[in-house]
Amino acid sequence: MSKPDQYNVEIPSNEMKDSNIKYFTTYTYGCQMNHHDSERLAGQLKSIGYEYTESLEDASFILINTCCVRESAEKKIYGKIGELKNLKVSNPNLIIAIAGCMAQKDKEKLFKKAPHIDLIIGTHNVHQLVEIVKEFEESKDRVLAVWDQAERLAPDVPTIRRGKISAWVPIMYGCNNFCTYCIVPYVRGRERSRPLHDIIEEIYQLGLDGFKEITLLGQNVNSYGNDTKEYGDFADLLKAVDQVETIERVRYMTSHPRDINDKVIDTILNSKKICDHFHLPVQSGSDTILKMMNRGYTTDYYRELVRKIRKAIPHASLTTDIIVGFPGETDELFQETLEFLKEIRFDASYTFLYSKRSGTPAATMADQVPLVVKKERLQKLMDVQNDISLEINQQFTDTVVTVIVEGPSQRDENRLIGRTTTNKIVLWDKQGTEEVGQLANIKITTAQTWILKGKLID
Ligand code: 5AD
Ligand code: SF4
Repeated sequence: MSKPDQYNVEIPSNEMKDSNIKYFTTYTYGCQMNHHDSERLAGQLKSIGYEYTESLEDASFILINTCCVRESAEKKIYGKIGELKNLKVSNPNLIIAIAGCMAQKDKEKLFKKAPHIDLIIGTHNVHQLVEIVKEFEESKDRVLAVWDQAERLAPDVPTIRRGKISAWVPIMYGCNNFCTYCIVPYVRGRERSRPLHDIIEEIYQLGLDGFKEITLLGQNVNSYGNDTKEYGDFADLLKAVDQVETIERVRYMTSHPRDINDKVIDTILNSKKICDHFHLPVQSGSDTILKMMNRGYTTDYYRELVRKIRKAIPHASLTTDIIVGFPGETDELFQETLEFLKEIRFDASYTFLYSKRSGTPAATMADQVPLVVKKERLQKLMDVQNDISLEINQQFTDTVVTVIVEGPSQRDENRLIGRTTTNKIVLWDKQGTEEVGQLANIKITTAQTWILKGKLID
């Protein structure tokens, strides 16, 4: 991702740019939680007088919000940080800030690797940006703000949002699972749930501000409330969110298959607004590998979970994450994952090459899989999944689906884009009667692997 984040704020044209105003821009890598952190960082910058710009050259504050879940992300980010060096030479007053998971993991090592960085902001320090900037401006010395542990709950801060229709709302931070491949628990800390009434209030206000859809965010949303018994559990939260009259749709991510229970399924079934899309990362279709990953479930458990969901909500869509080439994955064990994919028939799978993360147990496991083998497996997996996704999507041809109109597609502004409750992306030629944020009925004419295309019907 080498494009700056886009925020739902007015962007000044070149003629309107004021040399007295300080501009900022942000680049975000990684998951939705990171993207939402950028919204909170950007909101704080705006609160102290910075205005947003898309242009690196105009910015006097550049923030890179980083991800370290895979090595490929880290490489890309180092490339981006390197690119900023020349800007710093031509504008010595430029402030360069690195936030997010790499900042949390590497701390002051980042200053050594890239001496042009001014601020390093850990995942637990996002809410402190105003103080951090002040400290920098007063001392003119670089600032390292990385707490090893989070405060139980960070205070709310001003936020600017990326979209107009769809907003992210964190419900909990951190993860206690320690899957053996994953760096997240080390850089995001232990699970902390946000108070129920804060979440509901934020969602209510977002609805008043015109948002139609919210996505509840957490590394493992199903553990909501486990750290404190004050707010009930995830199903109780879903029930409460379903009652918020100002919004229309509720999504959530990510669910751990082990923790999604009958109460959650039942709540979704009986809700008005909770979307019928289940994203349940299975990671592997081999019991041997699942055990080594410390996922806490077997393929039989997952099968049974899918059976329950499909029995309760037959039209629900189901997506997953899969890692190929985990240490010890033989051709036979990989074959089990391929067979599992064919058996479950996910609507879509997000597939990743296993990436060694130092400090995690899997990094030192025997039988690491060579990159060429991982790549071959990834291709096989994607070929199987793409056929399945296309077959599933073809069933929508000639049917009518309802979407919330999200706006023009990035490639062609005469094409509009919307999503179904099952999270299918739908494109159609703009007729002019559609309004962003409204529901539209689209008759599907063409099904593709990742998208549906159709025509607006009255
Ligand atoms: N290597 C590859 N993929 C990983 N993921 C997490 N850690 C790693 C890793 N070390 C994937 C998992 C997770 C998704 C967000 O990223 O599939 O669900
Ligand atoms: Fe990582 Fe596992 Fe936690 Fe997900 S559940 S964030 S994969 S440790």
